[in-house]
Amino acid sequence: MAEEEVRIGVFVCDCGLNIAGSVDTEEVRLFAEKLPNVVVSVRNRYTCADPGQQEIKKHIKEHKLNRVVVASCTPRLHEITFRNCIAEAGLNPYVLELASIREHASWVHLHDRDAATEKAKDIVKIAVARARLLQPQHETEIPVTDAALVIGGGVAGIQAALDLADAGHQVYLVEEQPSIGGIMAQLDKTFPTMDCSICVLGPKMMDVGRHPRIELMANSMIEDVSGYVGNFKVRVRKRARFVDETLCSVCGKCAEVCPVVMPDELQQGFSSRKAAYIPFPQAVPSAYLIDMEHCLGNNPVACAKCLDACDKHCIDLHMQDKIVDLQVGTIIVATGMGIYDPTPLDEYGYARFENVITSMEFERLICGGGPTDGHLIRPSDHQAPKRIGFIQCVGSRTKNRGNPYCSNVCCMNTIKDSLLIKEHHPDAEIYVFYMDIRAFGKGFEDLYRRSKEIGVHYIRGLPGEVTEDPMTRNLRLKVENTTSARIEKYELDMVILSVGLEPRGHLKRLTNILNLSQTSDGFVMEAHPKLRPVDAPTPGIFFAGCVEAPKDIKDSVTQAGAAAARSSIILNADKLTSEAIKAIVDLTKCNSCGVCAKVCPYGAIKVDIKAKTGAQITAAACAGCGTCAAECRFDAIAMQHFSDAQIMAQIDAALEEEPQKKIISFLCNWCSYAGGDLAGVSRLQYPPNNRFIRTMCSGRVAEKFILHAFEKGAPLVLVSGCHINDCHYINANHWTKRRVERLWERMKKWGIRPERLQLEWISAAEGPRFAQIMRQLEEMRQKVTSEEIEHTKKVLKEQRLSKKKAGEQEKVTEPYI
Ligand code: FES
Repeated sequence: MAEEEVRIGVFVCDCGLNIAGSVDTEEVRLFAEKLPNVVVSVRNRYTCADPGQQEIKKHIKEHKLNRVVVASCTPRLHEITFRNCIAEAGLNPYVLELASIREHASWVHLHDRDAATEKAKDIVKIAVARARLLQPQHETEIPVTDAALVIGGGVAGIQAALDLADAGHQVYLVEEQPSIGGIMAQLDKTFPTMDCSICVLGPKMMDVGRHPRIELMANSMIEDVSGYVGNFKVRVRKRARFVDETLCSVCGKCAEVCPVVMPDELQQGFSSRKAAYIPFPQAVPSAYLIDMEHCLGNNPVACAKCLDACDKHCIDLHMQDKIVDLQVGTIIVATGMGIYDPTPLDEYGYARFENVITSMEFERLICGGGPTDGHLIRPSDHQAPKRIGFIQCVGSRTKNRGNPYCSNVCCMNTIKDSLLIKEHHPDAEIYVFYMDIRAFGKGFEDLYRRSKEIGVHYIRGLPGEVTEDPMTRNLRLKVENTTSARIEKYELDMVILSVGLEPRGHLKRLTNILNLSQTSDGFVMEAHPKLRPVDAPTPGIFFAGCVEAPKDIKDSVTQAGAAAARSSIILNADKLTSEAIKAIVDLTKCNSCGVCAKVCPYGAIKVDIKAKTGAQITAAACAGCGTCAAECRFDAIAMQHFSDAQIMAQIDAALEEEPQKKIISFLCNWCSYAGGDLAGVSRLQYPPNNRFIRTMCSGRVAEKFILHAFEKGAPLVLVSGCHINDCHYINANHWTKRRVERLWERMKKWGIRPERLQLEWISAAEGPRFAQIMRQLEEMRQKVTSEEIEHTKKVLKEQRLSKKKAGEQEKVTEPYI
């Protein structure tokens, strides 16, 4: 195609009066007709309607067109429509360019027909300049492995695994602990229904254990994940259990003879277990294991009593970890949450007073399967407490010591606990110290009301300090009751700290392996908090449960179902098609510096810096943001469909005439460009001096584009993308920011005012802000003098020539970043 004569057809749309009302479309058509390589220019009333599309197809055939420009509305609305249209006429869908003369001209310059027409002509000229360089592109097909990995065996992971397996997919469920069940298995009752937690969860755990399509890998860790949607390669370490779980009959004889006694983690240390143990009676897999860290069997004096006691001979003290390699199409991350440790909050005395306990410790103390068989006692003297206080928001909603967010479940958990205590001890006095009670879910307010009706006292105010009477071990606290505006004093037998939830300690390790981002509060970041709440930004990875944010059991299960359904969409497909907008490497130019691999938000690029074998891009994993191409100083990476040459040609076309009157704005497709579209749809008026260049992400905007625009005489350049942390390519716009900041410094050195390069984050919903920024830019443009522009052109030309002379591109050893 490169040698073929370029034959462009331009189709100018009236869009009724939407465009023709304020743009002279006939003048635009005549103008387009004279542009290089344009062989036909046609005006339509409604180009997107069937007659309009038929006309495009007719002209493609009649004039042997091999590029098409449609000057109508935003590509965000009809790019697919016209791609399909030209494909039906036998052209590759990627040889189409849209010129948005509606959202960016007619609608935003309603009262200045001449200016709107001039701008529309420029927009068409820019589009034709790009179209001239468009190349056919081909979407790749990726085969899909029909299997899923679920990481984490709490209630969310269990539900996701069961849903996927029931839908006919092979599932590997990897759990770090020796049994699945997670935190839900440690709770006594659940709110708002007050049903027994393990009675609800136990049958689901058993379903996992016996499901023919679920391979449960407990006591196991993810070591490595590579690949991409449809084809992930996963390495799992199955830690040695030292008991063959397929043979163990759970007779318990190993534990009976085991001489090692240690605190039982599940019972929060209120009782003990042996080194040979089963985590809890309902554990799945239903088998014992040996805690080798404490077992005497590996010490010089081996005890080996368990070996003698085991009739089935299923204990092997020399068992080794196993590495298992899996191939899966999708991954669901359901690793749950951690519980806040209140030790740093010394004022509550958790580490000093035995009768101050956490809500998780309380769960075990009141549970029928707990260390006291469900008899609530206070730890110091094993007497039943009569006066019990709950302190809410411990480690939550605080900026200093704890976490700034609301942990979502603690209010309802305390309300549930208050009812449980009243069930056990109807005459107990219960006081709940709180900031707000958040009872927002189905049945929650009812439970709260029941708690108050049976006499639980709710006191609005948090105590500043808890002290202990050393004689009685009772706890004293003083609180300002903000409802009665009085200072109140309480003496209590036991205080329960309603501790918050937080990301699990090891989550960072997993997010590194999976190349995922975490939000400022440490939970994983979704692709979009509202529209794709269970998708990771990396295609093929999904979230379920508290790994995404604190949530209760019902919400965790709901989210698990959603993640399984989203996962099934991929697994049900034999093949996935992947967009043609991809990065490609020219290995003859690549210096193996590794910058591209560092900036790629998807881990799609691998570079062996030592071996210097050049960057290797996994096309299926590349999402097409273009950050690698923008950061490559050797011009070794090209972006398909958004090539350097195309963008440079757009800049040249925009600034060919009267550059001093133009502002060049690079807008990312998903946010800023969409914000501009919204300004158009909302008919917000702004000056007509801006010329827009669309890139998929602001990360694509290379320094050379900005410098080229200045060298061509642009008084002002805008780089604009999604707000930080909203980038549609994970964190690509962080690199945009760094790049622009770096350029500001260099502009200062060259004597160019850095203010002439503007950086703005504009969301798709910020049409008014977009228009406002356009107005501000025009004010700034007017202050840029022709002397400044000439000086800039001269300096940049000198820089460019001296760089070329020095052959700097080949010599760079230190990457920018
Ligand atoms: Fe908008 Fe990355 S997609 S800045």
